[in-house]
Amino acid sequence: MNEKEQKWNATFYDSKIGFVSRLGKGVVELLSPRQGERILDLGCGTGDLAYEIASHGAYCQGMDSSQDMVNQARDKYPELQFDAADAHTFRVPEKFDAVFSNAALHWMKRPEQVIDSVGQALHKGGRFVAEFGGSGNVERIYRAIAEVLKHDGIDAEERNPWYFPTIGEYSALLEQHGFEVRYMELFDRPTELVDGEEGMNHWLHTFAGMFFVGLTEEQKREAYTQCCSILRNDLYNGKFWTADYRRLRFAAVLK
Ligand SMILES: C[S@@+](CC[C@H](N)C(=O)[O-])C[C@H]1O[C@@H](n2cnc3c(N)ncnc32)[C@H](O)[C@@H]1O
Repeated sequence: MNEKEQKWNATFYDSKIGFVSRLGKGVVELLSPRQGERILDLGCGTGDLAYEIASHGAYCQGMDSSQDMVNQARDKYPELQFDAADAHTFRVPEKFDAVFSNAALHWMKRPEQVIDSVGQALHKGGRFVAEFGGSGNVERIYRAIAEVLKHDGIDAEERNPWYFPTIGEYSALLEQHGFEVRYMELFDRPTELVDGEEGMNHWLHTFAGMFFVGLTEEQKREAYTQCCSILRNDLYNGKFWTADYRRLRFAAVLK
């Protein structure tokens, strides 16, 4: 792990950002796991959805590049297997019937490598079912961050850790790598954040750390406060913050 990589704090993630895996349950329905299938959860985080998939009677294994997330997943679900590996380059000794992923693919900036690795991990006819940030995801939050950083002479785009493709871009990549796209949808999913007034601070702290690398803790707090005042009118209703999420959800089959 170096300064150029997003850092994940598993305990904070579970206590403040639990909505991510809760909202991912709809993607598990799209996956429709069957008894006895071998399924890989890519970017599994702290393991809640791998556990959910396994509860349908499938064998589900989790993989994540963050050792902290993997350790927490192992502590929570010792009966399941979790491995630390990078989705861009991973290889598996035994192929899977399906690869699943929730809220993780937009952290992977070389999608063609990820899709190639997923293809190599699947049996012919295997499913790749996922949801992640699509084109326009957190656009307002990103614009506020960019405006605040501009005052410090920092170009947010140079630090942008996210990949939010359109339907056209991502389905073309899947097809180029031998997948048939059976379903893909881009939809707005405004998402209520927990902890009232503090919700946006927690969100920025958890997901946007890469933009603020090099700032002192005090400078970061000040930058978060400035972002919140830009966003308050649009995203805060006096009780809770709403993040302007937009998701890309798909199911594809390896030909
Ligand atoms: C927002 S969390 C989602 C976790 C989980 N899927 C859930 O629904 O709660 C994103 C996860 O993607 C993982 N991730 C990011 N880049 C990755 C990569 N290149 N390879 C594997 N995992 C990655 C992170 O470590 C993190 O655990």
